[in-house]
Amino acid sequence: MTVEPVSIPLYKVMLIGDGSVGKTSLARQFCEHKFEESRILTIGVDFQIKKVELPDGWVKLSIWDVAGQPWFQVVRESFYRGSAAAALVFDLSSHETFDHLDGWLQEIRQVVPQVKIMVVGNKKDLEHQSHPNIGAFFQKETSVPYVETSAKTGEGVDEMFTLLAKLASGRILPPVEKTGQV
Ligand code: GTP
Repeated sequence: MTVEPVSIPLYKVMLIGDGSVGKTSLARQFCEHKFEESRILTIGVDFQIKKVELPDGWVKLSIWDVAGQPWFQVVRESFYRGSAAAALVFDLSSHETFDHLDGWLQEIRQVVPQVKIMVVGNKKDLEHQSHPNIGAFFQKETSVPYVETSAKTGEGVDEMFTLLAKLASGRILPPVEKTGQV
């Protein structure tokens, strides 16, 4: 008798946000437990696959990390198709990167209107800048989960990708699941 392998569902997730906010570093910390101080400029797109254990079973994420610079916009748009969820990443030490999240949201929703989203404030190990527009953003996007991470120390990174896996696989979330403060 042969035993059929249990197939693990695969979901495509995107990491988007301004250049240098730490998208590649987050993916690398989660998948390889590594961090590099030097800049890892993404040329177009990178992706990695990683299994994530949720309370009711395993899922696989294909994690797509797209370059944040404006001139890569056309390349990015061609990779958004088919994504189930996206993490909008900003840098807690730079308020401009938060102010640009609306633009990132519009960019991905133009290609995938139903994409599930979460917001990630990265570089928690650095000194925070105040983010004056954060209240207005979450008033508009009321059910969007928010986590703070440090790709450098690893803080919050597993939590971030577990949430992303729950969003991508349609696991039910409470209306607002906020785990940090800005
Ligand atoms: P693009 O490829 O240009 O879109 O950038 P990115 O968002 O992928 O950023 P990347 O991961 O290349 O990180 C940019 C710089 O920030 C690198 O020098 C990283 O070492 C640094 N960095 C990333 N995450 C953190 C963090 O959590 N804390 C600190 N202190 N530095 C970080």
